[in-house]
Amino acid sequence: MLGIVGESGSGKSQTVFSALDLLPADGRAVADGIWIGGQPVGDLSRAGRHALLGTQIGYVPQEPMSNLDPCYTVGHQLMEPLRAVHKLTRTQARERAREVLLLVGITGPDRVLACHPHQISGGMAQRVLIAGAVAGNTSLLVADKPTTALDVTVQAEVLELLRELQREYCMALVIVTHNFGVVADICDRGAVMKDGRVIETGTVEQIFAHPGDPYTPELIKASQDDTESRAELDAAWNKAGRTVRA
Ligand SMILES: Nc1ncnc2c1ncn2[C@@H]1O[C@H](COP(=O)(O)OP(=O)(O)O)[C@@H](O)[C@H]1O
Ligand SMILES: [Mg+2]
Repeated sequence: MLGIVGESGSGKSQTVFSALDLLPADGRAVADGIWIGGQPVGDLSRAGRHALLGTQIGYVPQEPMSNLDPCYTVGHQLMEPLRAVHKLTRTQARERAREVLLLVGITGPDRVLACHPHQISGGMAQRVLIAGAVAGNTSLLVADKPTTALDVTVQAEVLELLRELQREYCMALVIVTHNFGVVADICDRGAVMKDGRVIETGTVEQIFAHPGDPYTPELIKASQDDTESRAELDAAWNKAGRTVRA
């Protein structure tokens, strides 16, 4: 479980999009090597990489409500990808949708399948999106700030759910967050981003106890203070002889 942390605009989502091959047309991801489930994917064609989405890689977006289509029922939105990507019949797709809703802790799956997004809560919507992301038995789950839009208590539940799913299915999980508490709580490794670059990466212990970059403890402090302290952060960044993005 890898936690990607960094202030707003530091490039966390772009990093995730590059892993999902969802960069804009003129964007390009560069890496020494990319493997999914032990298979090198760097040499695959665009179509080959897209075929990994929903089969090997699942994605949980940031805003549950704006990532569900208000025009369609939850059931339709869960079943459609299963039919298109996994070639399930309508009956099989419905059964799988019920199964994954139960898996993410939704006890009345039939009722929820029949609901339109405005008829369910934000926490429920996020569970639906997580269900959709794991429905294809993916080996990698990428979650971009999966709890931002939720109440604090629901946030804890959703994190716990991600942790359980990760353990149970031995999935790799990449979670983007601005909360170091989340990293400390559920991650094995962390990556700290600033100005579009990873400035530090290591085990969670290393990052907290022996940070390699002076910016990291400042970011941890700012995250704990829960204040808008970008000025202090920028000062720390400057003190280390770096320039701050305009
Ligand atoms: N590696 C990069 N190369 C080019 N542009 C980048 C890179 N990382 C970030 N950006 C630019 O910074 C903006 C903010 O990045 P984003 O990933 O949305 O930040 P975050 O998710 O951390 O808030 C992007 O829209 C993009 O224009
Ligand atoms: Mg982002």
